[in-house]
Amino acid sequence: MKRLDFLSESLKNLKEVGTVTRSSRYLCRSIARQIDFDKADTIVELGAGDGVISLHLLKQMKPDSKLIVFEINEAFCNQLEEIDDPRFHFYKRSAEELDDVLKEMEIDEVSYVVSALPFTVFPEKVAEGIVDQCRKSLVPNGKYVQVHYSLVKKNLYKKVFGNVKVNFVLKNLPPAFLLVSLRNEEVSGNGNDVG
Ligand SMILES: C[S@@+](CC[C@H](N)C(=O)[O-])C[C@H]1O[C@@H](n2cnc3c(N)ncnc32)[C@H](O)[C@@H]1O
Repeated sequence: MKRLDFLSESLKNLKEVGTVTRSSRYLCRSIARQIDFDKADTIVELGAGDGVISLHLLKQMKPDSKLIVFEINEAFCNQLEEIDDPRFHFYKRSAEELDDVLKEMEIDEVSYVVSALPFTVFPEKVAEGIVDQCRKSLVPNGKYVQVHYSLVKKNLYKKVFGNVKVNFVLKNLPPAFLLVSLRNEEVSGNGNDVG
């Protein structure tokens, strides 16, 4: 999907999509830098849009790893259905159904969660419920990586994980924050804690 198509789709559904452009290659690289691909047996991606982050991750993932992807926007789902890779497991279901999908796939734990869900427009309980499902599904020391365009939801991750580290990515429209939390232990992110 071209940038302009993403723009028109997001303008139609701004509340659901939460931004007007897909993630830049710089933001995708910053996300990938958070991941140790040798140890990433299973990565969950929530709110994949047109798959720009998914495709970036697939390039670096091991041949036997899995990328489990959630998206609900019809136009983006059509794009995601075109990704032809045996490691790519796409679900046209809400991120709220993460637990159910992992049970159906008989997966007990995941190594990483990458989310670009626009939690700023989600009801607080729903956002907290999803982030809590993510925490419970992660392996000990598993990492949760969230894209945001402001720091208003920072306390959500602090509340659920007990830790959050902030990285800033200037080369994105709009400039983005990567909020990184670890299950159980102190986060070891590579950025500045700016808040
Ligand atoms: C900010 S966009 C990010 C798109 C893409 N990952 C990127 O980085 O360019 C957020 C995405 O989350 C999707 N989304 C919103 N609510 C969702 C939900 N409950 N479950 C799954 N995806 C959802 C939207 O449709 C949108 O594609």
